[in-house]
Amino acid sequence: MSNRPNAPPAHTLGPKALALDGREVDLLHYIHNRPDIKQLRGNPQKVIAAIDDYHSEFNILMNVGAVKGAFVTDLIAERKPSVMIELGGYVGYSAILFGDAIRANGGKQFLSIEKNPEVAAVANQLVDLAGLRDTVRILVGPSDEVLRELVRDRKEITQVEMIFIDHWQKLYRPDLWLLEELDVLIPGTSVLLADNVIMPGAPEYLEWVQATTGQKRELVKKLDVGSLTPNPNLVYETTVSEFDTTFGKDGVAVTRVMGEQSA
Ligand SMILES: C[S@@+](CC[C@H](N)C(=O)[O-])C[C@H]1O[C@@H](n2cnc3c(N)ncnc32)[C@H](O)[C@@H]1O
Repeated sequence: MSNRPNAPPAHTLGPKALALDGREVDLLHYIHNRPDIKQLRGNPQKVIAAIDDYHSEFNILMNVGAVKGAFVTDLIAERKPSVMIELGGYVGYSAILFGDAIRANGGKQFLSIEKNPEVAAVANQLVDLAGLRDTVRILVGPSDEVLRELVRDRKEITQVEMIFIDHWQKLYRPDLWLLEELDVLIPGTSVLLADNVIMPGAPEYLEWVQATTGQKRELVKKLDVGSLTPNPNLVYETTVSEFDTTFGKDGVAVTRVMGEQSA
């Protein structure tokens, strides 16, 4: 992490392969040093464009990006969720893009769950700059803990309308099992969007959402589900849309909850 004032001046960190090396705070310096900073205030699209500029000119950021982002905003326009949840917020790119779409389509809230408090702080700053404070909330903590708190403790969420899963591929399936256990996946309503299912890939998640209820009942017997209680009886319909991104071919899985079917 940069140690200003001895750190290099804004946006001069060299390109590195990994995130979380100081570039996320450097992004904030870059944005606030832009000559057009005044035009960015209250303008989500301009904030998104400025993050894209930093990503293409200085350091790679692990944002959903323009192409997959447009795919998701089209789904938001089609389904018009009142509340949308995200697992994995990073610097707030998707929270700003999707929060803006939620607001434009008459929705109320975009809840972005982010484990790392440092990048969550960056996201909060950028959400504020974009003028989305009333729509976007950044919730800091591990996804499973925050989801339990939202549903069980605070009873703020009684159903998932739309969720964007974009944290760590190994957690996609256990967090889906948690949503099943919490009983917030509603047939005819809930839509799950999972990013990066081709690259780096989320085979365990895809196995679950593409299986029949009978196959899932068998899977549950074989898999280590820990302390979770998956619901294999939920009927899912999943399509994987493929995209050419700057990093190569990737896919977003769209899963609609269709019904419930017991043995
Ligand atoms: C690919 S980035 C998210 C990108 C963001 N959705 C966007 O498109 O702008 C993944 C993020 O998930 C966060 N993350 C990893 N494990 C997590 C967990 N268990 N709970 C919440 N966030 C987590 C990481 O800290 C990282 O910021």
